[in-house]
Amino acid sequence: MTKKRVLIIYYSFTQQTKLQLKQFIAGLESCEIEVTLERIEPIHPYEFPFRTNYRLALAMIETFFQRRMEIQPVSAQCIGNWDRVILAGPTWSYHPSGPVLDFLDRFGREICADKIVIPFISCRSYWRWHYRTLQARLQKNGASVEEPIVFTHPIREPWRIIGLVLQLRGKMIRRDKSWFRKHYPGYGHNKEQGLEAMRKGKEIAEKLLSGI
Ligand SMILES: Cc1cc2nc3c(=O)[nH]c(=O)nc-3n(C[C@H](O)[C@H](O)[C@H](O)COP(=O)(O)O)c2cc1C
Repeated sequence: MTKKRVLIIYYSFTQQTKLQLKQFIAGLESCEIEVTLERIEPIHPYEFPFRTNYRLALAMIETFFQRRMEIQPVSAQCIGNWDRVILAGPTWSYHPSGPVLDFLDRFGREICADKIVIPFISCRSYWRWHYRTLQARLQKNGASVEEPIVFTHPIREPWRIIGLVLQLRGKMIRRDKSWFRKHYPGYGHNKEQGLEAMRKGKEIAEKLLSGI
């Protein structure tokens, strides 16, 4: 029997999507699914961390208006017959990130037409608008879109937003005994979400192997 093949195209700015994908891929591969991974590379990425509040605010505004961030051409390995395509990345000001938007504009049709695509989203809290934008763009490019796989940061507000801003500004408080750390153990996703990503990988693998 020929192996089932999954293409994962991803962008990750602060490595959260990447870490979740690592577990997800482990889940797929544990069921003998062949995975091809393609990282989207912006030509001029945002600095990390942002050096000033002004630069961060500007990025928030630009991304709200869905400013494209030009990427390097994707590699030839992406063109092929895939049983599923996973398009993964963070939410930026309610939308897909600039590099993913550029990917969809320039390579979306070539790679996603006639494919079944699963969006994979990492965000602080709000992802629905992001998903709808992806769904519309992918469908316009001739893809079928399945339910997204979504991971939100597992901490209550207002700590979650404060933690995100501190992280993006490179000012995260790291002292274990600090007052802030009692409310905010760390930026991004936690171990349970990593295991959840692995379970999702296995779930999709089983679906593919049973011919769904
Ligand atoms: C410019 C910018 C805008 C963001 N806007 C949102 C947002 O609107 N909603 C949200 O839930 N998270 C937002 N985030 C947080 C990221 O989606 C979140 O931290 C995600 O886990 C980062 O994934 P990554 O490390 O793969 O880039 C934003 C992050 C950045 C850098």
